[in-house]
Amino acid sequence: MRVLVLGGRGFIGRHVVAALRARDHRVEIGGRRADAAAPVPVQALAMHRRLQPADWRAALADMDAVVNCVGILRERWAQTYDRVHCQGPAALAAACAARGLRLVHVSALGLSADARSRFIRSKWAGERAIRAAHAHATIVRPSLLDGEGGFGARWIRRVAQWPVQPLPGAARGQIAALHVSELGEVIAALVDAPAADCPREVELGGPEAMPMGDLLLRLRAPGRAAPLQIALPGWLARMGSHVCDLLHFSPFSFGHLELMGRANVPAVNAAERWLGRAPAALGAAPAMPMTVRPELKAAR
Ligand SMILES: NC(=O)c1ccc[n+]([C@@H]2O[C@H](COP(=O)([O-])OP(=O)(O)OC[C@H]3O[C@@H](n4cnc5c(N)ncnc54)[C@H](OP(=O)(O)O)[C@@H]3O)[C@@H](O)[C@H]2O)c1
Repeated sequence: MRVLVLGGRGFIGRHVVAALRARDHRVEIGGRRADAAAPVPVQALAMHRRLQPADWRAALADMDAVVNCVGILRERWAQTYDRVHCQGPAALAAACAARGLRLVHVSALGLSADARSRFIRSKWAGERAIRAAHAHATIVRPSLLDGEGGFGARWIRRVAQWPVQPLPGAARGQIAALHVSELGEVIAALVDAPAADCPREVELGGPEAMPMGDLLLRLRAPGRAAPLQIALPGWLARMGSHVCDLLHFSPFSFGHLELMGRANVPAVNAAERWLGRAPAALGAAPAMPMTVRPELKAAR
């Protein structure tokens, strides 16, 4: 298949691209800037500028499937939450539906319409808009992701080594962190699955759930002395998150502060079903990717 991976240079997207290529698909990437010389060619497909289905038609002309891994943590000029998380994806979904293309959209756990954070609300609205435009789109909701190279994951691994770890007192929500390469594998398997087997919603997480404080302890290098974890009062954590948002500093945002107070655990964890094995424990190296199952190859 020819698969367009939007956001294919990002943390999640890179792993989706690798997993799709491992299954012999021909992959193209969409991003904000074109790069024809890259090992996987990148087309300029700015989500915030493609707000009508017609804006996507040419990019989809030769494609069999699309994976949307685009997302922003903070708004910049025209790149608003509404455009990047909702209007653009809705237009993409309508264009995919019109051509009968499979669409896999990467969303997140813990979204709701009544969240205080606009980041969370925009991602929730994006899911609704995609569903309205494409009845068969697959919406994937992973928990927090661990792995090399992600902006958030890098910070979490770094903070885990600090001797003193300030944590929002309200950060008591359980998190079922999943390795990003396993998310890539699951998404590639969803792209490959026969239409009748492809679910409309998939929630994914690792094998264990724990609050952020315990997650930091698990990621601490063995042999280091136990850190001092300090619970920040709500007002201070909230003020800190707004300052970080204002300065575009670290992944600690108001949206993530709100997410840390909620459960970030799949209602039904589909990771094992789509990986064909149990997902790796936090901090452990994931198993080698599964080889393409013969029945899926035949179904393509
Ligand atoms: N990381 C996690 O733990 C996690 C967990 C659950 C859900 N998610 C969700 O998964 C999505 C991706 O996360 P990530 O960690 O992979 O983020 P990331 O590393 O920042 O990647 C985001 C990708 O989006 C693309 N992008 C951003 N704005 C765009 C625009 N206006 N037009 C076109 N492309 C644009 C970027 O492309 P270029 O830079 O190439 O232009 C980049 O490749 C987000 O929606 C996030 O909320 C992430």
